[in-house]
Amino acid sequence: MIETQKKLIERKIEFEYLKSIIGSGYEVKIADLALRDKVAYRAARKNMQIHSAIILKIDNEFSGFFTFQINHEAKEFCLLQSAMELNKKDKEIYGMMVKEIIKQNTYDYPMIMTVSTKHDLECPKVYEELGFKTYLNLSGFEYMVYGTLEQVRMKRLAHATMTNAWTTTRADWLKMKQEWNEKIEEAGKKYNISNPKFSTRDGCWQGLNGLSNIILSHQEVKDDKIIINKEKSLNSNASVLDPVACEVILRFFMPIDGKRIYNPFGGGVQFGFVAGSYGYEYIASEIRKNQCDVNNVLCQDFKNVKWIQSDSSKYEPEEEFDLCFTCPPYYKVEKYIDYNGLIPEGELNNIDTYEQFRDTLFEGYKKAIKKLKDNRFFVVMVGDSRDKNGAYYGMEAEHELFFKGQGLHIYNKIVYLECEFTRLAQAKTTLNYRKFPKREQKIFVFYKGEIKNIKELFAPLGRL
Ligand SMILES: C[S@@+](CC[C@H](N)C(=O)[O-])C[C@H]1O[C@@H](n2cnc3c(N)ncnc32)[C@H](O)[C@@H]1O
Repeated sequence: MIETQKKLIERKIEFEYLKSIIGSGYEVKIADLALRDKVAYRAARKNMQIHSAIILKIDNEFSGFFTFQINHEAKEFCLLQSAMELNKKDKEIYGMMVKEIIKQNTYDYPMIMTVSTKHDLECPKVYEELGFKTYLNLSGFEYMVYGTLEQVRMKRLAHATMTNAWTTTRADWLKMKQEWNEKIEEAGKKYNISNPKFSTRDGCWQGLNGLSNIILSHQEVKDDKIIINKEKSLNSNASVLDPVACEVILRFFMPIDGKRIYNPFGGGVQFGFVAGSYGYEYIASEIRKNQCDVNNVLCQDFKNVKWIQSDSSKYEPEEEFDLCFTCPPYYKVEKYIDYNGLIPEGELNNIDTYEQFRDTLFEGYKKAIKKLKDNRFFVVMVGDSRDKNGAYYGMEAEHELFFKGQGLHIYNKIVYLECEFTRLAQAKTTLNYRKFPKREQKIFVFYKGEIKNIKELFAPLGRL
């Protein structure tokens, strides 16, 4: 330590701020060092030299640089490329340069930086010591922030999805899912609700005909006999929503000044819980009283989160809302049971024919579309199911045509990809009659309004 201080005192260390590299007189010096450094090579490019920089001078000589960009639209401070003269590399001095950059952040924006575990100076350890936190770890690179993790949550969600194929089995997706599930479990403990993630859905799966579910049996040996308990399906097969998908949908499709969400087929607690955690108002129509009751107990700490026992083909929410997200019943895949084992009147999966089921479902959508404000998204997670002969009903395609017919734009068709493990077991049988087990569901994102307004009404993501 004393050695380091001596080293620093003996040397004259100075920093110079450049608003833009272009026009500063340092263009060539920076380009030359950037190219020799190799990792920082981008700083030699003209389109990067439009940005600001801190110049490091040791004993009056140009000895390094750090470029940065302040993005007022996304309200963030991006650290770009940095390098030190190869024979003058020194972690202490490099750290001083980063601190000098931090001083430039007079706006108190989150400061973001991507570093490599392989680099000697631009590495996680150096930045951690200066107060940066890692929010994402991707193939040898760490995405770090000087600020809070909440400030970069949207970037993390964007990285988890990125394209229209959402692979929900990746490490970061599972980590975030686990975190949400823990919060739901905590609420269950607090309010004495057992199995809060799947409450009221015990035994709802209806066998192999529908999605690629499996019914697990429980075996035990008693008095020298093998006892197989088959009467109950594992309710972890129930189609409750994935809280990470809920969060992504909420963050991406809620406008900047949006407040209210409507879900015409409420189901499990997940979406209301996520919406409530973000402080949004959430109204769900759900035909089963048992599901409404349990969800309302679990979400009582959130001010405006409510499941209303109603038939959504008849129910009309009082006020207009800013986002609709729902996951309706997939015909005959699950059985929805209320108190005393009864199926409520109007419950969609209890309707005799697929056509009647579809028309009643679409009535619910029509009522919701009417109450959706203009320039807003209507998101539906939907999966097809098969009839008695094994043919698909065509529910996904009918959704696209229905919403288009109602004047909404088909804006995204997302594939929600699940774990293949249980499907592989099924495939061994079903492929013999040429049926590929369904491993995905669709998330259709419809838009009501003028597409050109989206850029302005929805928050920018900043640098990814
Ligand atoms: C597929 S589930 C919802 C799945 C959802 N992903 C979840 O998290 O549970 C559909 C829900 O719609 C409800 N439902 C069925 N018919 C309805 C109706 N006519 N009005 C309102 N809700 C209804 C069912 O009770 C069930 O909870």
